[in-house]
Amino acid sequence: MFLTKKEIPFEEIIPKGYVDIHSHLLPGIDDGVKTVYQSAYIIEQFQKLGFKKIITTPHVMQEVWPNSSNTIKSKVSDVQDALKILGLSDIIFSASAEYMMDDLFEKRIAEKDIITLHKNYILVEMSTFSAPMNLNEILFEVKVSGYTPILAHPERYSFYHNDFKKYEELKESGFLFQLNLLSLSGFYGEKAQQIGMKLITEGYIDFTGTDVHNYHQLKVLKAGFLPKYAQKLNPLMEMNMQFL
Ligand SMILES: [Fe+2]
Repeated sequence: MFLTKKEIPFEEIIPKGYVDIHSHLLPGIDDGVKTVYQSAYIIEQFQKLGFKKIITTPHVMQEVWPNSSNTIKSKVSDVQDALKILGLSDIIFSASAEYMMDDLFEKRIAEKDIITLHKNYILVEMSTFSAPMNLNEILFEVKVSGYTPILAHPERYSFYHNDFKKYEELKESGFLFQLNLLSLSGFYGEKAQQIGMKLITEGYIDFTGTDVHNYHQLKVLKAGFLPKYAQKLNPLMEMNMQFL
């Protein structure tokens, strides 16, 4: 007989009052949702799943999406207006950003033109091809300016996959780690899934995020996780409560 492995629906894994700290739900300013309707639909689905708050994080990336703090804030109020009209009042919607650690980011840090996630936490990313040459210098500037960097989806940087010690170094140097929930569903491939699990087992993961950009990713997330991943996710997701 052919046996299939049963997935646990995402809804059963989410702790009550979950705060998502990574998504792309501001229309038309990065590779996330395109319209305010798409944004409102995904937010409504998150509310139904039991999320209490979404701090969405559009890309701020010099070469592609050099979004300013003002652009981000004005898009947030567009979405909030739509949520009000639709009566979606049980979920808090706000924004920070996912800052690519490039020259623009260094400029924004120097000018303190940064939208934090909460308190002094900021979400940062690096290219999927390589780490910035001056990573230590950037980290120094971030810390001296009083921010605490959370590295988005460390499990997705393939250049670290065969050099696990690098993760230890990043943690020791002061980065906190945010795991993408979609990584454990295998959405980014087997290797990111394996590394994600290893980072959890080593106790390196501090926070989680959906990193949802569109309907398709929402659907994959809602489909759920195999029990061995689901077990790990629930306690990890509780750690986001401090962002409420
Ligand atoms: Fe992202």
